[in-house]
Amino acid sequence: MLRGSRVGLRARHEDDIPILRAELYDDVVNSSRAEGGPWRPITPGSKDPRLVVDEPKEGTVPFSVVELDGGTLIGTATLWGIDTHNRCAHIGLGLLPSARGKGYGTDVVATLCHYGFVVRSLHRLQIETLADNTAMLRSAERNGFVREGVLRSSAWVMGEFLDEVLLGLLVEDWKPDAKG
Ligand SMILES: CC(C)(COP(=O)(O)OP(=O)(O)OC[C@H]1O[C@@H](n2cnc3c(N)ncnc32)[C@H](O)[C@@H]1OP(=O)(O)O)[C@@H](O)C(=O)NCCC(=O)NCCS
Repeated sequence: MLRGSRVGLRARHEDDIPILRAELYDDVVNSSRAEGGPWRPITPGSKDPRLVVDEPKEGTVPFSVVELDGGTLIGTATLWGIDTHNRCAHIGLGLLPSARGKGYGTDVVATLCHYGFVVRSLHRLQIETLADNTAMLRSAERNGFVREGVLRSSAWVMGEFLDEVLLGLLVEDWKPDAKG
């Protein structure tokens, strides 16, 4: 397990799946904002590729996020789009509603940076998020990510086009203890 200050990033367990499905993926608004695609209902027990980790895919590393103190499941985190030639990847995360706003998101981003830069020897990490997602923007910026551009009207979300912000962090600018 990867350890942050207060969160752990571990493998997906089978009994995580119903909780993540009910609290993250069955929430139409949350799903539509976070997924970059249309929400659709998923039958319980089916092999939803967003949740069920069957065969490890080279370019994607999914984690379940737990509280270090007690091990309670609090969300998901993913390093995806891993490009070993250009040594870059994207990060994504989603916390259960009861776990938001407590500093965990910032700690998850820090732990994913450690995984990307130290464990995977990447050079650049990237995040795309909706321009109104202050909590995600701040979680990234607190870890040294800088805003590199706005993708105007790039996301169709619940009846309207929204802007996305693209943030990047290079390994040479990364300060593992950044609290920026
Ligand atoms: C986005 C998300 C991962 C952030 O994690 P979090 O644990 O809630 O964020 P933190 O508690 O670490 O807060 C980070 C910063 O955002 C601020 N913040 C937190 N929630 C906020 C809110 N609802 N509105 C405005 N600011 C907020 C905090 O004050 C903190 O700011 P600071 O660093 O200046 O003090 C989490 O809220 C979440 O899972 N949201 C739903 C799914 C989602 O949006 N995923 C990202 C898709 S790209």
